[in-house]
Amino acid sequence: MKVAVSYITSINDRYTTIKLIDKSNADFIHVDLMDGLYVEKKNFEIDEIVGELKHATKPLDIHLMVEEPSQYIDALSSLIPHCINIHPKTTKDFKSLVNSIKQKNIKVGLVINPDDEIKEFIEYFSLVDQILVMSVVPGRGGQLFMLEVLPKLKELKILKHKFNYKIAVDGGITDETIKYVNFVDMVVSGSFICLHKDYNKQIDKLKNI
Ligand code: DX5
Ligand code: ZN
Repeated sequence: MKVAVSYITSINDRYTTIKLIDKSNADFIHVDLMDGLYVEKKNFEIDEIVGELKHATKPLDIHLMVEEPSQYIDALSSLIPHCINIHPKTTKDFKSLVNSIKQKNIKVGLVINPDDEIKEFIEYFSLVDQILVMSVVPGRGGQLFMLEVLPKLKELKILKHKFNYKIAVDGGITDETIKYVNFVDMVVSGSFICLHKDYNKQIDKLKNI
């Protein structure tokens, strides 16, 4: 099981947190970008965040919680991220956005919110590399894992053999809640790791389930 670490809820400032994740045993840095439109809070200026991330050595898993994500792709692709995760309803033409990202040799994730249904997006499943299931309402860290999303995750697991995606879960992941999702490929965890001093100790708790 891979662990991506989100830096948005931390005892340290953003710059320091990114550096600490980069030095840790995390598999990915999960980059949560919020524009204050799609979600209430705004947490980035694109040039600033690109500047802060360009020295990171770990692969980046970018999560765009923004209206019209296409406007950020050029700037973000300069970071050569591993994957960019998009909420399909935030863009006019999801298919062409997926294609333009894939042309840059970057993987694409499709994000499913707690109140979205699988059937709304199934037509896209063969196009993407990852399905990122939100287990909290997107917009902030430190929320409780929503058990209601488990049937959706199980359905995605069954459908997996038909398509070629990885399954990831984002939100409220702790050493307790991870037990429910031990069949996924990747978990995203923020506060469980970055509210502590010893990141590796926390990451190991997730990896050794
Ligand atoms: C929620 C973000 C998540 C979240 C993870 O909007 O997409 O990545 O910050 O943080 P925790 O683990 O604190 O829920
Ligand atoms: Zn996220």
